[in-house]
Amino acid sequence: VKEEALRALEPLTDVRALDEWRVQYLGKKSPVTQISRQMGSLTAEQRPVVGGWVNDVRAALQAAFEARKQEVEALLLQARFAAETIDISLPGRRRKRGAVHPLMKVIEEIEDVFLGMGFQIAEGPEVETDTYNFEMLNIPKDHPARDMQDTFYLTEELLLRTHTSPMQVRTMERMRPNAPVKVIVPGRVYRRDEDDATHSHAFTQIEGLVVDEGIRLSDLKGVLLEFARAIFGPDQEVRLRPSFFPFTEPSAEVDVRCINCGGSGCRICKDTGWIEILGSGMVHPRVLDGAGYDSKRFSGFAFGMGPERIAMLKYGIDDIRLLYQNDLRLLCQFNRVM
Ligand code: PHE
Repeated sequence: VKEEALRALEPLTDVRALDEWRVQYLGKKSPVTQISRQMGSLTAEQRPVVGGWVNDVRAALQAAFEARKQEVEALLLQARFAAETIDISLPGRRRKRGAVHPLMKVIEEIEDVFLGMGFQIAEGPEVETDTYNFEMLNIPKDHPARDMQDTFYLTEELLLRTHTSPMQVRTMERMRPNAPVKVIVPGRVYRRDEDDATHSHAFTQIEGLVVDEGIRLSDLKGVLLEFARAIFGPDQEVRLRPSFFPFTEPSAEVDVRCINCGGSGCRICKDTGWIEILGSGMVHPRVLDGAGYDSKRFSGFAFGMGPERIAMLKYGIDDIRLLYQNDLRLLCQFNRVM
């Protein structure tokens, strides 16, 4: 029986067959168990002999079974490893990393600078009314900006906003009659321009507005100087040049020293050493009053800048269209992982 059992065990290679073998040779109906059951019918001399023999056989079979079982399990594990092998020498697929668009990056940087100075951020509608876009900003009916040639009109009263300045009025109307206003408004604006290296029919502006008692031109200059230094570097100079906007009085255009030529003149600043980055001024009393702030008590300053211009300056991009074409070569150049 022992030899037969051991011979039967040898070729077994799976767990089910092993189990069946165990039932057959070590189970309740196996010869070994049968024999030990009949021990009672043996004589006192026969019992230890047969008992010892049965025990030996049982132990031998048990040991053989355990050994074989371990072998089979090892084999099965090996087979599984072999089947699940992966080829780690195969080169991986490179994932393209996303990057923040250089224009968005500049807008976020500008927002951060003004948030740091205590400004809030607001957004307004791109479809505006003639009233907010022109009328309440003191822009007269015969102003060239109102021309069909310059503005995208949707109806007689509705248009695509030509600047973010209507949000000056909307913000003051929300805060009137006396809450201090300190807000910037990023957003898209539209003008009927032929697209070329420096013009786009759709571009971005960031409007700024501060209204409170006792706001002066020096506040405007201080805030914009602080802004220019945060964006262009701590030694950046700014210069205010008298200008005109119907909704500010006095008005000034703000220039920064050209960073591309270090101030000594180049193609970007047209050899003047300075480059204009924004329009600004003290909010016109008519605009304040119209929006619900008593101009005898309140004053304010406003500014409007073009982030495209600033991005082009900062990164030396010489064609505004590059900012809208989404060419991966440009997008990856100023890489920042999202
Ligand atoms: N809205 C003006 C423009 O688009 C810029 C500006 C904003 C000027 C605020 C003065 C004050 O050119």
